[in-house]
Amino acid sequence: MLPASSSIAIYPGSFDPITNGHLDLIHRGARLFSKLIVSVLRNDSKEPLFSVEERTEMLLEVVKVYPNVEVDSFHGLLVDHAKAHSATVLLRGIRAISDYEFELQMALMNRRLSPGIETIFLMSNEAYSFISSRLVKQVFSLGGDITGLVPPTVEARLRQRLPHLTKET
Ligand code: PNS
Repeated sequence: MLPASSSIAIYPGSFDPITNGHLDLIHRGARLFSKLIVSVLRNDSKEPLFSVEERTEMLLEVVKVYPNVEVDSFHGLLVDHAKAHSATVLLRGIRAISDYEFELQMALMNRRLSPGIETIFLMSNEAYSFISSRLVKQVFSLGGDITGLVPPTVEARLRQRLPHLTKET
């Protein structure tokens, strides 16, 4: 199927780790744009569970089925990263109204910084609208079942990272 637009889009985020909600957005973004670059923010101040390299590896494992999806990382301004890739679209997902305020602020700031770059929002698939990386980590660390919330490779990584939490079978 041909993409709806010949634009190059960046899908930025922390992806610590990637969830099925992110993956759904990648799947839909890959159909909309000629190239979609999933870009991991390098930001040590957030004290992530996974390093940028680990997060990139996890992303690469799940996007390999999409020929027009690439994975990269960035630091500094997102719009500069977009320009470096000749991208004209920033793709973000909105799960609930609570996401809207922050997303609007970011979109308006990015537009001010670079008016030629548009932020495009996709509404989350309702099946994933309650999922966040933060909640997945919390539920997993408390011994809860996260099946179906993250790709199986990510669940395996979480188990490796927090092995003492793996239930005995
Ligand atoms: O997954 P997240 O943590 O919600 O992603 C936030 C992200 C990476 C999109 C945002 O923090 C970002 O774009 N950071 C780059 C810094 C920047 O460009 N700031 C100015 C515009 S808000």
